[in-house]
Amino acid sequence: MVRKKAGIIGVGKVGATLAFYLAVEHICDDLILIGRNAEKTEAEALDLQHSLGYSGNNISIRSGNYADCGDLDVIVLAVAAPYHTGMTRLDMAGGAVSIVSEIIPEVMKSGFEGIFVVVTNPVDVVTWYVQKLSGLPDSRVIGTGTSLDSARLRQYLAQVMEVDPRSVDAFVMGEHGDSQFIPWSQVRVGSKQFTEIMADYPDRLKGIDLNDVNQYVSRIAYKIVNAKGATTYGIAAVTGQIIQAVMEDENKVFPVSARFHGEYGLKDVYMGVPAVLTSRGVKELVEYHLTEDERKKLENSADIVQSQVRSL
Ligand code: 2OP
Repeated sequence: MVRKKAGIIGVGKVGATLAFYLAVEHICDDLILIGRNAEKTEAEALDLQHSLGYSGNNISIRSGNYADCGDLDVIVLAVAAPYHTGMTRLDMAGGAVSIVSEIIPEVMKSGFEGIFVVVTNPVDVVTWYVQKLSGLPDSRVIGTGTSLDSARLRQYLAQVMEVDPRSVDAFVMGEHGDSQFIPWSQVRVGSKQFTEIMADYPDRLKGIDLNDVNQYVSRIAYKIVNAKGATTYGIAAVTGQIIQAVMEDENKVFPVSARFHGEYGLKDVYMGVPAVLTSRGVKELVEYHLTEDERKKLENSADIVQSQVRSL
């Protein structure tokens, strides 16, 4: 049996919650935690080991350093730039890029050839830099992108419709930030187009305004971050699902931040789009028949992310 090996760099609230998710769901067999504070990182590893006492999951969890990254299948970058109330994700770009500029060359010295999963915000900008700094093929550098926003949307629509979220086929595209948008032309519940459901059940859905839903999904993180300092469970769950899709070679379609190569007429930008995930990373992006308005919103997001990349 080949053991599945993952590392998490940055063991703050997000990294630690992700580590717990990976352990509970047994998504990898070996897990290495790498953090700035060696004592705290070791304490997180010990605490996580204790969660295995009754689980039957045979997982090795330990703290380590960049030299241990050489044979990892997946490395998650969960470091974070300092955040102050009122900042947008884009305001964190300078700080985040300078942190990853120190980390990535150290990781690459280990001979790492696996897949980076980038969580660090602003995730689309940082993922672009991680690919550039690592020199890995762009299919092997994935950002969490709009996976979390899509989870929020699915959960929201499931509550409105009183159905299981797995019966909601919906995703968010573009920047994992304020310019993201919901391509309503592609949203389905129980395989029925959501706009048709709205037309067929005007009384039941009369309180729903599509712009308000977009606003809710794209802004709800600020409420959580301002109250508890970070979002943790949602991002841990979606990152865990991305890692699982890679580890299990699932060919799963999942919204992530991936590099565009002419899809939707866009190039040289990382942003949120459903993509097919395999053990080799992103296999392809899904090209939907978006409406004219949706295409414009996607182009607007691309402009925002690209101009941020250029300004750094
Ligand atoms: C989130 O959307 C803050 O980007 C983080 O939860």
